[in-house]
Amino acid sequence: MTANDRLIIALDLPDTDKAERAISRIGDAGRFYKIGYQLMPIGGLDLARRLSADGKKVFLDFKFHDIGATVERGVQSVCKLGGDFLTVHAEPDVLKGAVAGRGDDKRLKILGVTVLTSLDAAALKKSGIHVDLPDLVLRRAEFAAEAGADGVVASAQEAAAIKARFGDALQVVTPGVRPAGAAANDQKRVVTPAAAVQAGADFLVVGRPIVEADDPASAAAAIAAEIAGA
Ligand code: C5P
Repeated sequence: MTANDRLIIALDLPDTDKAERAISRIGDAGRFYKIGYQLMPIGGLDLARRLSADGKKVFLDFKFHDIGATVERGVQSVCKLGGDFLTVHAEPDVLKGAVAGRGDDKRLKILGVTVLTSLDAAALKKSGIHVDLPDLVLRRAEFAAEAGADGVVASAQEAAAIKARFGDALQVVTPGVRPAGAAANDQKRVVTPAAAVQAGADFLVVGRPIVEADDPASAAAAIAAEIAGA
């Protein structure tokens, strides 16, 4: 796998025309794209099909969270769409439903979202969760491993502990990545691409520093070079 294959570019853009423009400007540097809520209801699924047909990898960031049977049927439908990564919340029944729905599909990897980075200890407490955040992340990573999921989404802060515990059994996909000098935007805790890789991240998710750059192809290439050199 090359460094470019480990860079997932988040297409958080208002419509598919803007996304298609960004994809064509990024060119060969972009091998793996993430489609989430912003594009999903307005043509994002067709865009995912087009990207797949063009040989790109596709991360469907749908964060499913429902009873296991419903998740199972939803994931069966996602398999018909085609995609490489799909997120679900890292709860045991949700993960089990997703893994069952994926069945023998060798392509679609199931990723468990551990704890959203927008949540801190105070927010968890308010919801009645009195476990330390790093312990909760590891517990949910364990749910993912036990269910037979392929990986987790986790911040670079937690990547090392997840890798230490689960090794290659779980792929770690890490957002909140910013090259030195780039704006943090609304990300609270950011790390550089090299630091994320050194922490154990297998894949990095980067959005605005690439899609909003004056030269998105160079921005993506620079991040890939940093991944390669880490
Ligand atoms: O533009 P930026 O690089 O901040 O985009 C990061 C992407 O990763 C966004 O699509 C965001 O929703 C996603 N993400 C995140 N933090 C998480 C999970 C997903 O930033 N914990």
